[in-house]
Amino acid sequence: MSKVVSQESSPRVADSVAEVRAAVHTARQSGLKIGFVPTMGALHVGHVSLIEQARAECGYVIVSIFVNPTQFGPNEDFNRYPRPREMDLRICGDAGADLVFYPSVETMYPAGHRTFVEVGGLSDILEGAIRPGHFRGVATVVTKLFNIVQADRAYFGQKDYQQQTLIRVMTRELDLPTEVITCETIRDPDGLALSSRNAYLSPAERQSGLSLSRALRLADQRVASGDRDVAQIQSAMRQEMEQTSGLKLDYAVIVHHESLTPLSEAEPTMVALVAARVGTTRLIDNMILRLPSNTKS
Ligand code: PAJ
Repeated sequence: MSKVVSQESSPRVADSVAEVRAAVHTARQSGLKIGFVPTMGALHVGHVSLIEQARAECGYVIVSIFVNPTQFGPNEDFNRYPRPREMDLRICGDAGADLVFYPSVETMYPAGHRTFVEVGGLSDILEGAIRPGHFRGVATVVTKLFNIVQADRAYFGQKDYQQQTLIRVMTRELDLPTEVITCETIRDPDGLALSSRNAYLSPAERQSGLSLSRALRLADQRVASGDRDVAQIQSAMRQEMEQTSGLKLDYAVIVHHESLTPLSEAEPTMVALVAARVGTTRLIDNMILRLPSNTKS
């Protein structure tokens, strides 16, 4: 069978809010369910998995590509964040997106913008403690995007565990009419979670970065075998990461899977969260930990 490479796989691109609203209106009138995948572009197989899940579950799929300035700190990588527009549009088309929303900074934040969304507590811990203002920027842009697209379902990666937690809480508390779906983390065969920022890593830095998924697997194995000593497992994770050359540990913790608060004792479901710097690149990763159902406290 011949494979037809046609223009049809390239999605429609909208750069204004009005265009997105009109497209959504038409799709809804045809009875289609709207699926939405917010991204910052530099798309990889992790993003593609979200678009494909949206494609499988919804009749009309919108991807947004917007490097959101309000979620970057003053010394972070906003300016050097990769923006491969043509390649990203092709990837969206191949993965089955119907529409790509590609707004400018001025469209999303006209001069004088002053309204922000803050999710109390969750914004200030872990990633939020290291990146002040980051989650305020994420919550604000996701609220705006949700209001623009008004999707039935929006798809996020487990890779950014704290982000999806915060978006779930925010969506519930602000009564946003979109269902938040969390999709599993896609990894390279060696265990490194895919990230647009992996492009910054030298081969040696990439090797150091593997320590994050090693620490998580170590925690997973210990919990799966019935070990309930959270403090000891955490220190084993830290040790694994601290002994890795070229890597600077930010945190390695096991916390409640919804509140992300520390645990005084093991729970049936927990989440291990790790973050580190390799050179100038920050890496984060996580894993859900489940105690075997027959373990006694
Ligand atoms: P970005 O980093 O581009 O990620 C877009 C979505 O892809 C997020 O939901 C993220 O969790 C998911 N993702 C990234 N790597 C993944 C992987 N290896 N496997 C599965 N999913 C993965 O996260 C953002 O953009 C922004 O903060 C955004 C939500 C778009 C707001 O600006």
